[in-house]
Amino acid sequence: MHTLLLLFSFFALLCSLSNFIPFVEATKTQRSFTVDLIHHDSPHSPFYDSSLTSSEIFKKAALRSIARYSLSENNNQFPESVVFPNGAVGDYLMKIYIGTPPVERIAVADTGSDLVWVQCSPCDDESSCFSQDSPLFDPNNSSTYTTISCTSQNCTLLPQNQHTCGTSNVCQYLYTYGDTSYTIGDLASDSISFDSVGYVTFPNSIFGCGHNNSVTFNSTKKATGLVGLGAGPLSLVSQLGDQIGHKFSYCLVPSGSNYTSKLKFGDDAIISGNGVVSTPLAINSSTPTYYNVNLEGISVGNNTIQSNQNASNIILDSGTTLTYLDPSMFNDIVTLVTQSSAIEVVKDPPKPFGFCGRFQGSSVEVPIFVFHFSGANVSLPIENMYTVVDENLVCLLLLPNTELIGVSIFGNLAQVNFQVEYDLQGNKVSFSPADCTKSN
Ligand SMILES: *[C@@H]1O[C@H](CO)[C@@H](O)[C@H](O)[C@H]1NC(C)=O
Ligand SMILES: *[C@@H]1O[C@H](CO)[C@@H](O)[C@H](O)[C@H]1NC(C)=O
Ligand SMILES: *[C@@H]1O[C@H](CO)[C@@H](O)[C@H](O)[C@H]1NC(C)=O
Ligand SMILES: *[C@@H]1O[C@H](CO)[C@@H](O)[C@H](O)[C@H]1NC(C)=O
Ligand SMILES: *[C@@H]1O[C@H](CO)[C@@H](O)[C@H](O)[C@H]1NC(C)=O
Ligand SMILES: *[C@@H]1O[C@H](CO)[C@@H](O)[C@H](O)[C@H]1NC(C)=O
Ligand SMILES: *[C@@H]1O[C@H](CO)[C@@H](O)[C@H](O)[C@H]1NC(C)=O
Ligand SMILES: *[C@@H]1O[C@H](CO)[C@@H](O)[C@H](O)[C@H]1NC(C)=O
Ligand SMILES: *[C@@H]1O[C@H](CO)[C@@H](O)[C@H](O)[C@H]1NC(C)=O
Ligand SMILES: *[C@@H]1O[C@H](CO)[C@@H](O)[C@H](O)[C@H]1NC(C)=O
Repeated sequence: MHTLLLLFSFFALLCSLSNFIPFVEATKTQRSFTVDLIHHDSPHSPFYDSSLTSSEIFKKAALRSIARYSLSENNNQFPESVVFPNGAVGDYLMKIYIGTPPVERIAVADTGSDLVWVQCSPCDDESSCFSQDSPLFDPNNSSTYTTISCTSQNCTLLPQNQHTCGTSNVCQYLYTYGDTSYTIGDLASDSISFDSVGYVTFPNSIFGCGHNNSVTFNSTKKATGLVGLGAGPLSLVSQLGDQIGHKFSYCLVPSGSNYTSKLKFGDDAIISGNGVVSTPLAINSSTPTYYNVNLEGISVGNNTIQSNQNASNIILDSGTTLTYLDPSMFNDIVTLVTQSSAIEVVKDPPKPFGFCGRFQGSSVEVPIFVFHFSGANVSLPIENMYTVVDENLVCLLLLPNTELIGVSIFGNLAQVNFQVEYDLQGNKVSFSPADCTKSN
């Protein structure tokens, strides 16, 4: 009865506010849905040539736009704001709807953290919420909002030092990110919906209602919170669990593209075909958030560099822009790139880059990269590893991981134009080259 009533009021509201919108409530059976991932820097001046797969790099506007983004927008704070241990750079945004009636929220999509949270009214004081274009989420306005009690299992799913018991036995969370961002508030439960082909609603989803929040992604004013897509217990992916067959995938369009990237859940997320390669996923129970895989080596042109570890040694992350590697591997790569291309190494590469070289003329031949994950050789399009910064300066989209306490990360620029599927039940990650502007 209760459920029916709520269903009806949501439905009636949607009908009265807009044209008929098909409404689907998620049940325990599996659901599939797709949402847009919007690059926060997505300009409407596209230039993208998907035929750029040879070993010749040109002075292309599209390549420069990546660099412009890296250099100007994030400038000096760039290397520090990287996702570790679970920080958010905020490259990609997605829409979710919270509550009854559903309120649209734009939030950062982050595979490097777990908690889903939004800024909630009231803020602890005037300076304890970052500015956003839309009003704060008001829990009083949602008929399905409830707080989670301190004794609830969901409260204890937060790491020990990230929850306390507040007034009225409400579970208080404190979630901190590696880049100094944090959110503090009530752990709560409410419906979370997605606008796919019609709304798909997941009642009783756990999220953080943040009353004291500080983030490094506050410059857009669009983002009102964050959606954690990690593998830990409170992440969106883990909460939807069986209902999405423990699967999601994304396909990231190049920076500057006029198209939106897609994030898919459930059967929609399954990638198939000849080009699909898969590697085992190793979730470490002491840091369950991260998608760890094993990188056996990297080929640079005809040479292969072996990684010196034989264990899950690199994190796949859509929230980190560049790729971070073991310093010795990075140095070997630099040597090979220098040897096999007609570039002159520059002494002080512009931030945030770790290696750049000058070239003559309108283009330069550079070696192609293949990442050898266990069981999955991933050959990267040239623009996933190189960018042309100014007239004749080419830079690698790679950095040594010295700032990350030795943690290697396969970042989002390396993953552009691949379908990347995470199967948390089958414990594997699959890659398939794709033109992400054409995937729906
Ligand atoms: C918000 O949290 C920060 C960090 O823990 C703390 O320093 C500050 O006092 C809090 N603000 C309020 C109003 O509670
Ligand atoms: C909450 O509901 C009240 C009354 O319907 C409305 O005036 C107000 O704008 C709502 N606030 C938010 C933040 O949605
Ligand atoms: C929400 O309701 C509670 C009690 O009903 C009230 O104390 C609180 O001030 C309200 N919050 C807002 C933001 O209106
Ligand atoms: C809390 O956690 C339990 C067990 O993990 C789960 O069954 C329940 O649905 C969760 N949600 C709420 C709102 O309590
Ligand atoms: C973003 O947050 C920082 C640090 O809290 C603050 O100095 C800055 O003014 C904020 N920017 C915006 C646009 O709110
Ligand atoms: C880019 O997108 C905008 C808005 O969707 C559209 O008006 C414009 O025609 C598009 N440009 C190109 C070149 O596709
Ligand atoms: C899990 O992480 C811990 C701490 O980083 C590490 O000591 C341990 O070796 C890891 N376990 C596996 C199986 O990789
Ligand atoms: C790589 O090997 C191929 C075939 O053996 C050869 O034709 C090519 O010149 C080599 N490239 C480099 C950069 O050494
Ligand atoms: C890595 O370990 C696996 C199993 O432990 C083994 O089969 C494989 O040969 C090892 N690879 C290397 C390069 O040591
Ligand atoms: C990956 O590439 C390496 C080196 O070229 C080759 O030895 C290996 O068999 C390939 N693995 C797969 C799974 O294709």
